[in-house]
Order: sequence, then structure tokens, then C-alpha cells
Amino acid sequence: MGIRSVMLPAAIAATLCAGGVARAEGLTVGFSQIGSESGWRAAETTVTRQEAKKNGDTVKIADAQQKQENQIKAIRSFIAQGVDGIFLAPVVATGWTQVLTEAKDAKIPVILLDRDIDPADKALYLTAVTSDSVHEGQVAGDWLVKAVGSKPCNVVEIEGTVGASVAANRKKGFDDAVAKDPNIKIIRSETGDFTRSQGKQVMESFIKSVGGKNICAVYAHNDDMMIGAIQAMKEAGLKPGQDILTVSVDSVPDMFKAMMAHEANATVELTPDMAGPAFQALNAYKKSGTVPPKWIETKSTLHTSQDSDLQQIYDEKKNLGY
Ligand code: AHR
Repeated sequence: MGIRSVMLPAAIAATLCAGGVARAEGLTVGFSQIGSESGWRAAETTVTRQEAKKNGDTVKIADAQQKQENQIKAIRSFIAQGVDGIFLAPVVATGWTQVLTEAKDAKIPVILLDRDIDPADKALYLTAVTSDSVHEGQVAGDWLVKAVGSKPCNVVEIEGTVGASVAANRKKGFDDAVAKDPNIKIIRSETGDFTRSQGKQVMESFIKSVGGKNICAVYAHNDDMMIGAIQAMKEAGLKPGQDILTVSVDSVPDMFKAMMAHEANATVELTPDMAGPAFQALNAYKKSGTVPPKWIETKSTLHTSQDSDLQQIYDEKKNLGY
């Protein structure tokens, strides 16, 4: 009972359980999380804790409050603690070379979660668990092209954090998709930093500068900014989802509520479970030397207010950790 084998190397040390069944000893992972700027981000943190527990691993989470300098400090602290691996959700794409070289020199594998970094630093991490964020923007743009039909349509865009890979990619994918339709024009584009409050402020300023009646659709790089924008539209006496079409990314439960209330039209789903594949890859690498593919891609699924399963998905998401 509870006897630890001393015959095996540390990385694959086994603990004998009460029934005599050998169980691999868990890993300790440091997770440098961006912050809690969105409902999606908070769910990702919750799911990471759940995944660690499920696998018998330990995760130490450092909240960087959306600052890269805090992420760099956290990574250095994880290196000093000698963790088995580091998960990094990089707030911006550049500026990682030095600290990731330090992790590599310390032989601590780094796995990127949900955002990419400069391709020049590819050799400095083991794998990246992310969606195809250019594709997310394309899916949003293709949906809008169909929804608009042959009418002229002025679009306002609320972008994510400046310098974040997902903001640049979601913009690119959307721009490419709507460029195919000469009726669609992006008339304003500003950052709302992925937060609800800034999404609301940006939408208020768009309504003020161009007039609500001249806006046909809003594209937001995440649902939280769109929820803020919906509030701004309602306060300006407009009917979001009817007078003004909406499309955004994440698929958080509040967006399902808005779609069920006919106040929003479409959302591209991003799974908050980035940690599940990351723990699997890290365990396989540490315990049997299996090198994962450089990119572990998660799925992007479109949901619209026309779907019949909105309540069911809302309930499932509430059970998942949102
Ligand atoms: O990197 C993923 C993005 O970050 C999510 O879409 C957004 O909600 C979050 O802040």
C-alpha cells in the first residue's frame, strides 16, 4: 500500500496503488496564462485544472494579467522550480526568443496553447495546440457573404489584442473571405482587446461616428467583445441580430443565450480544451520520447441562430467549465 518504487527512472517512476496496479507518476506543469479577459479564457483555465486532475498531473497557473513581462517572469520562475513542462498562452506573437531559449537550455519542453508565436522561434517549443485562426476568420466571412446576399453591406470590425496571432489571423481570414463580395465594405476596424467592456466602448464610438443605421454587420474577433457591442447597439435603440448582423468567434454560453434571444446571428466555436491534447503530448514526450507534430490543430465549428440545438450546446458548455 502506497509503496513508491525506487527501481524505475524518475520520469517513469510508478506508484503502487492499493490494488497493486502500477500508475505512472504525474508531471508538474507550469502554465503561463494570459489572464481572464474573456469567458473563453476563464473556461480554458478551468479545463486545464480539470485535465491535470484527471491525468494525475499537477498544474501551477500564473495569471499574467495580459502583460507579456509577467509571462516572461512566470516562465523564469517555472524554470527555477524545475517543472517538467511549461504551457504558454502567448499574449503577443513576438518577444519570446530569449526566455524560450532559457527554457530550452534547461531542457524544459514548452507547449503553446491557443496562440502562435513568431515562426522564427519554432525550434524553441515542442508543439502548439491551437485552432486555425485564419480559417476561423474565413468561416465568419463566408457566413456573412451568404447572409448579406446581394445587398450592399457596411461592416464594422472589433479586433482582438494588438500583436496577438489570433487577432492578425482572424482579420486576415475575414478580409480574404469578404473581399470576394464587392457589396461588402469594412468601414471601421479597431481593437477591443478581447474584453466585453472595450467591445462595448468601440461599438459606441462606431455608432457615434458613422450612425447605427449605416452599419449592416459587426464582426468581432471574440464573443465577449460582441456581447459588449450588443449592449451598445441596444442602448442606441438598435436591434442587434435583426437591424445589424453579428458574427464572432469562441461560442461562449452567453453567445448562445444571445442567439436564442435573436440578438446575435453566428459564432465560430473555439474549444477551451487546449490542455487535454497538451498534457497527452507532454506525457508521451517525457515518458517515451515521442515527439508530437509541431501543430496540434483543434476544430472550428460554425453555430448560427438558425440551429435547432442551441439550448443543448448551451447546457453542455455550462457543464464543461464555463
Ligand atoms: O487566443 C484565443 C482568444 O483569446 C479567444 O478567442 C479570446 O476570447 C481570448 O481572449
